[in-house]
Amino acid sequence: MDKKITDITGTFKLQNGVEMPYLGLGTYMPKDRYEVTNSVKLALENGYRHIDTAAIYRNENDVRLGIEASNINREDIFLTTKVWNSDHGYDKTFKAFERSLANLQMDYVDLYLVHWPVVGLYKETWRALEELYKQGRVRAIGVCNFLKHQLEDLMGDAEIIPMVNQMEFHPYLVQQELLDFCKQHKIQYQAWSPLMQGKVFEIPEIQKLAKKYGKSIAQVILRYDLQKGVITIPKSCREERIIGNADLFDFEISESDMDFIDSLDRNFRTGPNPDDFEWSVVL
Ligand SMILES: NC(=O)c1ccc[n+]([C@@H]2O[C@H](COP(=O)([O-])OP(=O)(O)OC[C@H]3O[C@@H](n4cnc5c(N)ncnc54)[C@H](OP(=O)(O)O)[C@@H]3O)[C@@H](O)[C@H]2O)c1
Repeated sequence: MDKKITDITGTFKLQNGVEMPYLGLGTYMPKDRYEVTNSVKLALENGYRHIDTAAIYRNENDVRLGIEASNINREDIFLTTKVWNSDHGYDKTFKAFERSLANLQMDYVDLYLVHWPVVGLYKETWRALEELYKQGRVRAIGVCNFLKHQLEDLMGDAEIIPMVNQMEFHPYLVQQELLDFCKQHKIQYQAWSPLMQGKVFEIPEIQKLAKKYGKSIAQVILRYDLQKGVITIPKSCREERIIGNADLFDFEISESDMDFIDSLDRNFRTGPNPDDFEWSVVL
């Protein structure tokens, strides 16, 4: 573990010096809009300072309402949103960004991500993100769901190397080679579906580890993410879980147990494989 983990306000530093809170709240896909607003408000009131949304979640507006209801200052919150697949391309990305800002009623976002590597278009989209970054309209830019070959291809033409790669990540999908590649290029790795959308609770080996450490399964797995140097954004709409998921700063997973969790990897995805994603899908 070469990154320091302290408490819920702790951050990992991106390649441009921006501090990104290593624990955040995911917002895809609660039952209704009220749940999004309420979970964002609850998370912020309980110390979270990082919220993850996306244009395709169609909840940027509800996220904003949650932020407003929390009374936490905008500048104290790290907010991520993403450009969707149908908005790829230089001009379309600018328009999509303006729509997101209008939904959020903000004049900047902390992190703007390319949601999926749409073949043939992601380089133009990336050029638009670079421009938004240079204009100071986003504090950091990055990608989601880029495998090594897609990162290499993008970086071959990019002026700015992606600062973040947000990927599906959990004990059944570690992708160590990709993690190592990102580390080597100072691309901060970030986990989506860190709890395998609930499936992680069924893994017997993780159940045993949770008993051993006297912590919940979610706490063990989210702590594992942080000790791997991976930023994590579990989604929950329930107050006790939002609070409980962040109660992971009073224990440390041993090196051998970290290795053991890594060894459970079986290249299992709960979501699509970036190499054969159906780009026209609208969630
Ligand atoms: N970039 C991308 O392509 C991409 C793709 C997918 C997701 N994401 C982002 O990543 C975030 C997290 O991923 P995810 O929402 O797919 O899945 P997740 O965080 O792995 O799992 C969420 C599920 O786990 C449950 N849960 C949370 N804490 C729990 C606990 N302590 N005990 C038992 N159950 C618990 C939640 O239910 P309750 O709400 O009922 O607690 C929900 O059903 C998303 O919300 C989204 O912001 C990004």
